[in-house]
Amino acid sequence: MSKRYFPLSRVYSLLEPGPVVLVTTSWEGERDIMTMSWHTMLEFEPPLVGCVISNANNSFRLLDASGECGINIPSADIADKVAGCGNTSGRKVDKFSRFGLTPVPSNKINAPLIDECFAGLECIVHDRSMVAKYSMFVLKVVKAWIDPDINDPRTIHHLGKGSFMFSGQRVKLESKMR
Ligand SMILES: Cc1cc2nc3c(=O)[nH]c(=O)nc-3n(C[C@H](O)[C@H](O)[C@H](O)COP(=O)(O)O)c2cc1C
Repeated sequence: MSKRYFPLSRVYSLLEPGPVVLVTTSWEGERDIMTMSWHTMLEFEPPLVGCVISNANNSFRLLDASGECGINIPSADIADKVAGCGNTSGRKVDKFSRFGLTPVPSNKINAPLIDECFAGLECIVHDRSMVAKYSMFVLKVVKAWIDPDINDPRTIHHLGKGSFMFSGQRVKLESKMR
């Protein structure tokens, strides 16, 4: 394979694991939704997820204050809404109303989940030690929900600069990873 130079500033677009998710937060009567693609699994059980959430975002303030959030996993059918939530600040706009997304009460946290997403994870902040340096919150998933009627959802994956990919065919390969 002959390869060409690739700019360091674009490396993220090769490694972003996706799926793009929607982070829901609430604090003192305020609620918000933020699109997020910079997340990574850190532990199987209890599931720990590292999430980079910029302190320029309103969601950072709500997450920092409440210590909890929802991670909602959307599929391609609501891709426009997902992009919209990532291009709009929730400081003055209620994104649930703006984008026609339905809040549903969570079981173990105060932040709502999103009905239109096929899966929802209720999370509490587990470790803040990397927040100051990397804006990285380590979240612990305390309850998880999935729509049993959705098989092989077409998740959304971010490639940068306005490009996205929807997941496609499921394949089976030999793997020792559980
Ligand atoms: C596809 C996509 C992925 C994004 N991923 C992240 C992310 O991982 N971390 C982050 O801090 N912001 C991310 N953003 C930007 C936030 O979603 C955006 O700043 C949003 O307006 C924040 O909303 P808020 O101010 O209401 O919290 C992403 C935006 C898009 C469109």
